[in-house]
Amino acid sequence: MKDLSLHILDIAENSITAEASEIKIKIIEDTRENILSIEISDNGKGMDEETMKKVFDPFFTTKACKRTGLGIPLLAQSARECNGDLDIKTEKGKGTAIHVFFQYDHIDRKPLGNIGDTIIVLVASHPGIDFIFEHRRNDSLYSLNISEIRQELDGVPMNSPDVIKFIKDDISAWLISTDNMLQ
Ligand SMILES: Nc1ncnc2c1ncn2[C@@H]1O[C@H](COP(=O)(O)OP(=O)(O)OP(=O)(O)O)[C@@H](O)[C@H]1O
Ligand SMILES: [Mg+2]
Repeated sequence: MKDLSLHILDIAENSITAEASEIKIKIIEDTRENILSIEISDNGKGMDEETMKKVFDPFFTTKACKRTGLGIPLLAQSARECNGDLDIKTEKGKGTAIHVFFQYDHIDRKPLGNIGDTIIVLVASHPGIDFIFEHRRNDSLYSLNISEIRQELDGVPMNSPDVIKFIKDDISAWLISTDNMLQ
């Protein structure tokens, strides 16, 4: 996978498979601490100890008709190649949190890519899920709470074109206005 937004999409898909109703995606770009950190947490079905032990094995999956489970191993490998790591906290029946971090300026660190598109794809294809998205760039914080937006929309579907465009534009505008925060 060429950028981190695609990894985020992939890890969030795990939460959807785990039947989560709330998925939180938190990105921190901190150039002073020289860290890029991503946390994806859900209230899905969680993993038992047996599953948890095998998660870093590329040949482990609980998906039917599949022989590999590459999502987590590949992201963990990308992080370790950049002085980072991936850590999982999970509780059966409660949920899962995946935290991954990278040395921000490491030469091999993949770019974040188009995070707006990732959020849009998730929201548009799973309009019933309460996504919470937070992105911090040094001192500037962006946050988007789908359940709050849904309440304000008062019956307009979350995946209607106008709503999707609004979210996409809102994220893009923040990214453009904070580009200079990263120096
Ligand atoms: N958020 C989660 N909640 C519950 N179980 C999870 C979660 N994330 C991963 N798992 C478990 O870990 C396994 C491995 O996940 P991983 O993303 O590495 O591979 P996969 O999803 O099975 O396949 P791929 O990502 O290659 O399509 C999953 O099959 C699932 O059993
Ligand atoms: Mg996966």
